[in-house]
Amino acid sequence: MLDDDLRDRAERGGPAAPDIIDEGAFFGCRVTEVEHYTDTLFRFRTARPQSLRFRPGEFVMIGLKLDGRPLLRAYSIASASWDDTLEFYSIKVKGGALTSRLRHIRAGDRVLVGRKPTGTLVVDALKPGRRLYMLSTGTGAAPFASLIREPDIYARFEEVVFTHTCRYAAELAYSEQLVSAVQGDELVGAMARDRLIYFNSLTREAGPRTGRITTLIETGELFRRIDQPAFDPAQDRVMICGSMAMLDELKSILLTRGFAEGSNAKPGDFVIEKAFAGDGV
Ligand code: FAD
Ligand code: A2P
Repeated sequence: MLDDDLRDRAERGGPAAPDIIDEGAFFGCRVTEVEHYTDTLFRFRTARPQSLRFRPGEFVMIGLKLDGRPLLRAYSIASASWDDTLEFYSIKVKGGALTSRLRHIRAGDRVLVGRKPTGTLVVDALKPGRRLYMLSTGTGAAPFASLIREPDIYARFEEVVFTHTCRYAAELAYSEQLVSAVQGDELVGAMARDRLIYFNSLTREAGPRTGRITTLIETGELFRRIDQPAFDPAQDRVMICGSMAMLDELKSILLTRGFAEGSNAKPGDFVIEKAFAGDGV
């Protein structure tokens, strides 16, 4: 399972290990909290190296040391840039090289965290606008967990719409818990209660709102449900995180409606990021 040095020495009867250790190209960060939602989803927090800076929405390589070698995958940082811990929201892939091990981590274990967060799902890659949409499926909610905790988002946009679509109701637990925490938060709670619109839907189980986000946009049901006008490139900015198929379809919907894709070098009307590589499970 985990290399022995990834387990807290205190647990093995030695002195407590420091929160952060130097692992060369990585930080070795001590896990502070783990919460499991379903057989396939969990979140965890680690201590944060003071020198680790990131822009909300970015991802970083994280992993475990196995047989002395790092096994790494890209992960969106789900915590706010001002937080003194790091949060990650994770899938558990059956037989997955990393997550079949990562799913067993406990408080006190050590996770490797890269030193260079990066990514395109950042407000710097968007032109100013009135409304910010964050459209996610599955673990694609993770980067938006960071963004909706940021006061800056509410300073830049009048309305912030966060959507999360999953197959089954149990898979919405993370975003539901997140939004309610943000709304009760001392720093951003008042702004979020006023201007954060959370919309979720299910695709393989009955619920109050059902359907893929693509369908709900095309039929206009999303906009009717949240009481906002249909997409308008003059006012709306969009961030998208999900499977490749979901990104492709939403990108084509937005291009058809006159939105231009943005990048760090050339800000635009929408930005996209893969929630994972591959065809899905
Ligand atoms: P892998 O061998 O990496 O994956 C096996 C297969 O599982 C993949 O081919 C794919 O079909 C499926 N799969 C992998 N990840 C997911 C997922 N998240 N949702 C649904 N199916 C998946 N994963 C997270 O859980 N949380 C994140 O915040 C996150 N951020 C990412 C950001 C970027 C930019 C990229 C490219 C990927 C991100 N991933 C994230 C995916 C992550 O890098 C790993 O693929 C995941 O941890 C599984 O690793 P593994 O070694 O167990 O399986
Ligand atoms: P569906 O159940 O109809 O496939 P996944 O785990 O495969 O990434 O799916 C997460 C959510 O994203 C599911 O609700 C799934 O709906 C939805 N989804 C999958 N593919 C697309 C797509 N091409 N466009 C929009 N939503 C999609």
